[in-house]
Amino acid sequence: MKSYSVCLIPGDGIGPEVTSAAMKVVEAAGINIFWHFATAGGAALEKEGSPLPESTIETIRKCRVALKGPTATPIGQGYSSVNVELRERFGLYANHRPIRSFIGVKSHYSDVDLVIFRENLEDFYIGDEEYVNDSRSAAVAKSLITAAGSRRIFEHAFAHAQKYGRKKITAVHKANILKMTHGIFLEAGKAVAQTYPDIEYSDRIADNMCMQLVLNPNQFEVIVAPNFLGDLLSDLCAGLVGGLGLAPGANIGNNAAIFEAVHGTAPDIAGQDKANPSALILSAAMMLDYLGEQEAAVRIQSAVAEVISEGKSVTRDINRENGVGTLQMTAAIIDKIRGHE
Ligand code: NAI
Repeated sequence: MKSYSVCLIPGDGIGPEVTSAAMKVVEAAGINIFWHFATAGGAALEKEGSPLPESTIETIRKCRVALKGPTATPIGQGYSSVNVELRERFGLYANHRPIRSFIGVKSHYSDVDLVIFRENLEDFYIGDEEYVNDSRSAAVAKSLITAAGSRRIFEHAFAHAQKYGRKKITAVHKANILKMTHGIFLEAGKAVAQTYPDIEYSDRIADNMCMQLVLNPNQFEVIVAPNFLGDLLSDLCAGLVGGLGLAPGANIGNNAAIFEAVHGTAPDIAGQDKANPSALILSAAMMLDYLGEQEAAVRIQSAVAEVISEGKSVTRDINRENGVGTLQMTAAIIDKIRGHE
């Protein structure tokens, strides 16, 4: 039987609870994984004196695939984001977020099925900011967008669309104002689109895109955006289908991939058996798909969808009155997986 080595980072807050749920579900799906535990975030800072210890980098480098719980980032001060550093260290240029409606989750739309690819390494996230006067009452931030980086994210998105039978790609930009940076991004999109004549390609200015997504998200299949806009759009889209508790994600590069939920550490419910494990479980399913275990990935996705649609064994973010705990929801998902064998 094939086996895989995966780096498992429990993370902070609800991270240990939801990563533990995901490991159990992957095991129940019959996939043989040797988990290499590593620390990051507040937990790592406390234990090892660094939010991203070298030993963690080494473990990811060896495994090339990681499943990661959320990690805490202090706002405005303290250490910088572990996630941003991981993306840079491993060249994880594509942030992949599928957005899907779930029957049984109260939301604005019941039939959304789209994917967002956000460029993950460039734009304002290069962290080049400075005050422009001594009184620190004005500051400037630089955004770097390159033709190579833009081309790479479009190539990734088009390849994905072709593999999964998606017919339409929409690029999002603000090239009417940011004529150089977003102009470069748009040119790359057009050039890559020409090599995929079977996929319909168009572009939208970001403000119009926000309105279109809120009014009629079903007109979109695959969305490609520069880093900053992509960050905003992916949370907007998560909101269309019922929020962050169900949104999985992946950061993908040429030599490594890290799978994690979109949500954060949820300190308000940490350690209380209240966290919805679905987003991390669905991230683990994306990981299995990436590893070539498509059948197990689909089985997990279907099990999560069934448990959610039945509405009995779901956490309180979905069923406020009669919700259950993380452990019970995980057990229900595992029962469904076993039932499908
Ligand atoms: P958050 O996503 O942790 O929480 C926002 C709200 O959603 C809270 O009310 C929380 O209880 C709820 N929530 C989140 N995940 C849930 C789940 N699985 N089940 C049920 N309810 C859930 O966002 P917040 O409060 O902005 O961030 C908290 C910390 O997480 C910060 O330190 C932030 O930097 C970090 N963070 C880490 C991320 C990562 O490592 N990928 C991503 C986003 C935030």
